[in-house]
Amino acid sequence: MKKNKVIIGSQWGDEGKGKIVDLLSQEADVIVRFQGGANAGHTLVVGDKKIILHLVPSGILHESKLCLIGNGVVLDPEIFCEEIDELERSGIVVSPQRLKISYKTHLIMPYHKMLDNLRESKKSGSNKIGTTGRGIGPAYEDKVSRVGIRACDVLDEKRLREKIERALAEKNILFKHYFDSKEISSDEILEKIGDSLKKLRPYLADVSTEIYNAMNKGRAILFEGAQGTFLDIDHGTYPYVTSSNTVASNVCAGAGCGIRVIDEILGVVKSYTTRVGGGPFPTELNNETGEYLRSKGGEFGATTGRPRRCGWLDLVVLRESVRLNNITSIVLTKLDVLSGLDSLKICTKYQFNGKEILYPPQIENGLAKVTPIYETMKGWNEDISQIRNFDKLPHAALDYIRFIEDSLDVKVKIISVGPERSQTIFR
Ligand code: GDP
Ligand code: IMO
Ligand code: MG
Repeated sequence: MKKNKVIIGSQWGDEGKGKIVDLLSQEADVIVRFQGGANAGHTLVVGDKKIILHLVPSGILHESKLCLIGNGVVLDPEIFCEEIDELERSGIVVSPQRLKISYKTHLIMPYHKMLDNLRESKKSGSNKIGTTGRGIGPAYEDKVSRVGIRACDVLDEKRLREKIERALAEKNILFKHYFDSKEISSDEILEKIGDSLKKLRPYLADVSTEIYNAMNKGRAILFEGAQGTFLDIDHGTYPYVTSSNTVASNVCAGAGCGIRVIDEILGVVKSYTTRVGGGPFPTELNNETGEYLRSKGGEFGATTGRPRRCGWLDLVVLRESVRLNNITSIVLTKLDVLSGLDSLKICTKYQFNGKEILYPPQIENGLAKVTPIYETMKGWNEDISQIRNFDKLPHAALDYIRFIEDSLDVKVKIISVGPERSQTIFR
C-alpha cells in the first residue's frame, strides 16, 4: 500500500531533510512544501552535482514527480525564478506541469527583506535572532495582519499595485522615521520584481485540489518540512525561532488537506546537534570537538554560509520533538561524521532548578537555564561512509543507535552515512 509521509526536522534545522526527501521521492508521486520559505537550504548531492534548493520541493530531480508549493509557504518570486533558472542550467526541466504554486501562497516582497534586515541590524548582542534576512518574519506578519500579497494577486495588475500601496503605507513610516532609512514606492517594487511576478503566473494552481485528487487516485504524497521543530514559532526556543509552525501537524493547514492524509511521520535527526543564528543551545561545544564536527560535517549554512554552532546529541530536545510531532520513525543522518572521536556524549536529561528533568522547561528561554546531564559512550574509528548494511556498522555505532532508540522509544529506520543518495542504510 502506498503511504503518505511527512519528513520534518527534529532539531534546529539542517538535519539533512533535503537528501532524505530526494531519496524517498523515488517511491512517491507528489512532493509538497507546506511552510517556510527561502530561509530553507536543502542540499541534494547526486554524483558530482550538488544542488541547493530553497523553495522548490526536493523531489524536483525526479522528472516524473509532481512538486507542489502549498499556501503555508512564503514565496520570494525573485529567488523562485533564480532557482528555476539554476535547475534548468543543471539540465533539469521544470515546467508548470510538474511544479505548481498555490494561488493562496503569500509572496515575499522587497520591503519584507528590507524590514527583516533593518530590524536585525538595529538589534545587538544576544537580542539578535540571527535571521536569514530572507524577509520571512515580516511576510508572515503581513499574512496574519491581512495585508499580505498572495500569488493569485499577480493575475490582476491593478489590484496588485493597490495592495502593494496599502501595505507600504505603514512600512514607509517605519522605514523613514523609525529606521532612518529610505522609503520605497510601488513603482520601484514593480520595476524590480515585475518580471519575476509575471513568470509566476503559469505555475499557479489549486494545490489543495491537486493533493485531494492525488489522494483519491491512491498516489503517494511526501510532505517536505523546512527548518526544525525547535525553530517552530510556538514550540521552539521563542523568540529565537522562525515565523512558521514547523511541526508535522502544520502539513494540513499549510498544504490544504485533511489530517487523515498522513500515514507516517519521519523525524530527521542529525547524529549530533547544530544550530545557526542566536538562541540557547544546551549541548553546544565551544571547543575543538565542536570545531571537529563543524569541519568534518561541513557545517556551514546552505542559505547564508554562516558557520553552524555544533554540539552533542540532545535527547531532551528529541524527546519533546517525538511528542510534538508524533514521530513514527527516525532517520538518523551524518553518522559518518562521528567516526574518529574516542568517546561520544549524549545528553539524556537536564538539571534545572535543582531537579532532573526529561523534557525542556516550558518557560521562555528555559533552555538557557539548564545544565545538560550526559551519558558517555564509546566512539569508533572506522570510516563508515561505504557501509550499506546495518549489521556491518561498528559495535560502538550500533550501541549509539540503540541507545537513541531505547531512550526515545522510536525505531531508527534509515541511517545516512554520507551526502549521496547511495550512502544510506535502510533497516
Ligand atoms: P536540510 O536543510 O535539513 O536539508 O540540511 P542541509 O542541506 O542544510 O544540511 C545538511 C548537509 O549535510 C548538506 O551539506 C548535505 O549534503 C549533508 N549531508 C546530508 N546527509 C549527510 C550524511 O549522512 N553524512 C554527511 N557527511 N553529510 C550529509
Ligand atoms: P532548513 O530548512 C537552520 C533559523 C535562522 C534564525 C531563525 C529565524 O535548511 O533546515 P528566519 O530567517 O527564518 O526568520 O530566521 O531560524 N533558520 C534556520 N536554521 N535551517 C533552516 O532551514 C533555517 N531557517 C531558518 O538561522 O536563527
Ligand atoms: Mg538547511
